[in-house]
Amino acid sequence: MCGIIGYVGNKPAMPILINALLSMEYRGYDSAGVALIEQENLRLVRAPGKMANLLKKIGDDHGLATVGIGHTRWATHGAPTEINAHPHLDCQGKIALLHNGIIENYLEIKTKLQAQGHIFRSDTDTEVLPHLLEHYYQGDLGAAMRKVVTELRGAYAIVAICVQEPGKLVAARQDSPLIVGLGDKEFFFASDMAALVEHTREMMVLQNGDVAELCEEGVTVYHNNQKVGRRILHVEWDKEAAQKGGYPHYMIKEIHEQGVALRQTLRGRLERNAAAIDLGELDFSEEYIRGVNKIAIVACGTAYHAGLVGKYALEKMLRLPVEVDIASEFRYRDPLVNSQTLVIVVSQSGETADTLAALRESKKRGAKVLAICNVVASSIALEADYVLFTYAGKETAVASTKAYSTQLMIFYMFAIYLAARLGKLNASEQQKLTEELCALPEKVQQLLSDTEKRIKALTEKLFLEGRQDCFFIGRGLDNYVAMEGALKLKEISYIHAEAYAAGELKHGTIALIEPGTPVIALCTQQSLQEKMISNIKELQARGAYVAGLCFLGNEQIEQVCEETLQVPETIDLLAPILSVVPLQMLAYYAALARECDVDQPRNLAKSVTVE
Ligand code: AGP
Repeated sequence: MCGIIGYVGNKPAMPILINALLSMEYRGYDSAGVALIEQENLRLVRAPGKMANLLKKIGDDHGLATVGIGHTRWATHGAPTEINAHPHLDCQGKIALLHNGIIENYLEIKTKLQAQGHIFRSDTDTEVLPHLLEHYYQGDLGAAMRKVVTELRGAYAIVAICVQEPGKLVAARQDSPLIVGLGDKEFFFASDMAALVEHTREMMVLQNGDVAELCEEGVTVYHNNQKVGRRILHVEWDKEAAQKGGYPHYMIKEIHEQGVALRQTLRGRLERNAAAIDLGELDFSEEYIRGVNKIAIVACGTAYHAGLVGKYALEKMLRLPVEVDIASEFRYRDPLVNSQTLVIVVSQSGETADTLAALRESKKRGAKVLAICNVVASSIALEADYVLFTYAGKETAVASTKAYSTQLMIFYMFAIYLAARLGKLNASEQQKLTEELCALPEKVQQLLSDTEKRIKALTEKLFLEGRQDCFFIGRGLDNYVAMEGALKLKEISYIHAEAYAAGELKHGTIALIEPGTPVIALCTQQSLQEKMISNIKELQARGAYVAGLCFLGNEQIEQVCEETLQVPETIDLLAPILSVVPLQMLAYYAALARECDVDQPRNLAKSVTVE
């Protein structure tokens, strides 16, 4: 997620910009830059990689400028190079602009501007913005910005300066957070409060559709071209709390970010009421797709669990064999992979050594490799033949949460996309699925606000009598989500948890069930519900304490289980995106209750870059 800072006031701007960008490093980035106005000249300094590279280029000469903007970029369109780093300039180098988000219709805007003679230098979507401002600029940058935003589709937090109006910053916000900091004769724009708390506690959160202007006298906000007022907040957070968005841990922050993350995964690929899914970044030929006779999914940990759900969706829609392998096993089993195998590697970090090795082994055997990844400039993303980015934003907590749900979203879109191209899904089936996919982010957001209190109470019931073990059971897709729930609980609360196919328990493992053993029974797959109820009763006969997880209003499961966790109803196939949320929270609150280090669990690393 990019970091944004803008400053206008009576102090040298450069140190303020640099410190603000350093305080936002936790957001994850792969290039950085600043632009300042000094005696009607625009000074632009950008560098790929980390802030140290930018600081080296800036050197000791911080100058006297009191107006400037700064940016740390998490690459989406265009590799993390200096030329793609923000801020970007117009043709004359008089306007500098930075942006967080995705301009979905940037190609059509760029084509129009090129036809008018504008020269583009980068591969980014952002660069259309300073040129569009230049196109509309007639001496008032704010007025020009208000015209620019009428042409944009997508998500954006934009900040711009221009040499003709040196004491002014202009900003616009749609779906990407942007905050105004109100100091004493100094004002700020920032993407998050962590960058501002050392300067001011008075803040204003811009709303979608707002265009704001800052100068030494203060802030003016426009909405639909009308001046509006925005509430001023007094923020008590310290910097660390601000970096966690006010949440106590990154993990719970990232669990709550899943609604937004899922919208970002969909953005530009699937719009409400769209006829089809647009995965333009995949230039599969018709001949190649029709030649694929097997799909092999390879990953580790949570990404592997996402791959299991992906297998289910792909097989259901394509009627093609799909194998799923743990990466550390895949390359040593002499896998049956050739040019007719599409290999899909899944990795949040894009740096997992086992998964990267599996990618290389697959290419050696002649297969094309598609990566599902969250980090644009990662080794896996760079070495794969095709990439579908999850755009979940930086995931800081070791326990993967929003990466998992956005990986599922990618698998669902990919399965529908391929099935439609292969003629295996008719228009109405496709529409039913895509409509429900578009509804999931809101359903997840609703679930997050409805569930948290209930989960905290259940955690105390399930685990606090010093329980050292727990079972997660399910059938079909529920079994795969049970695996993810068990891993979450194990890795952050250190409670031994085991996921088991519900129908398999009676073949041995049921011997471990004793009075009070906590069991989470996932029961979203309606065609398997009767079987699940029998399995639940088998366990209860041996004293198990069963919490059922089902769709809202499922009275049968409510009657059978001691406890129920309920999620909004959806198509059975799409249930995992919803059913995983209560399990993530269960693990979080169990770890809290046991005073474990939630974000940095013992023995674990966020990315396992060794075999
Ligand atoms: C998940 O919570 C764990 N942190 C771990 O299993 C992780 O999913 C696995 O190491 C794979 O990481 P990757 O997605 O970055 O490749």
